[in-house]
Amino acid sequence: MRIPLIAGNWKMHTIRSEAETLARAVVQACEGLQDREVMIAPPFTALATVAATVAGAKVALGAQNVAWEAKGAFTGEIAPPMLLDIGCRYAIVGHSERRQIFGETDALINRRLTGALAHGLTPVLCVGETLDEREAGQTLAVLERQVRAGLAGTTAENPVVIAYEPVWAIGTGKTATSAQAQEAHAFIRNLLAELHGQESADRTRILYGGSVKPSNVDELMAQPDIDGALVGGAALDGESFARIIHFQ
Ligand code: 13P
Repeated sequence: MRIPLIAGNWKMHTIRSEAETLARAVVQACEGLQDREVMIAPPFTALATVAATVAGAKVALGAQNVAWEAKGAFTGEIAPPMLLDIGCRYAIVGHSERRQIFGETDALINRRLTGALAHGLTPVLCVGETLDEREAGQTLAVLERQVRAGLAGTTAENPVVIAYEPVWAIGTGKTATSAQAQEAHAFIRNLLAELHGQESADRTRILYGGSVKPSNVDELMAQPDIDGALVGGAALDGESFARIIHFQ
């Protein structure tokens, strides 16, 4: 009942010419794709270029972050209507790099998420524990705090995607084992059921992110509660991302 979603987070990579080449490769990889969805989130400066490249293809566009107000004095921020105007359907919020490098708090991330929803964007809420937190046995407590705070004020009717991205697995080559990922995903789904009811929890896609590659995607996607992937490094290589899209 959940259509898998393979998403590429390009982070702070690609000038427009590179973005266009990569987007073309994604369009090609998505030809004839039936049973899964694909989303790419280029940097803001490449959104217009990528939107033009993927026009008419089955590739959704996402932003890597989003503000909550429609407009105003928010230097450096991008408003939801601006993203909708350029063709975005999704917006990533709460990525661990936003939390760790830029000090974004659960409360701020919640404002971004509810702002995105209010304007008709589907937020992709990223959650995940650090290595210290995992070693201290706090993984599930951290996930619970981040999911509860991130989704505060939302209802079962709000479309959201959750991405479980253990911080220690991002860009390190260390993937969570499929069992570790499945445990976290099942925990998040149970929490969603508690918050918004079982039907909403069954409908909500929970993506795994953290060193997803062609060599591990099949095993990850075979887990019952893993509904897709949020891919960083391997999404910058057209061939690797194509293979991930075509997970078995
Ligand atoms: P990597 O795939 O490079 O580990 O990055 C994961 C990520 O942060 C996606 O948002």
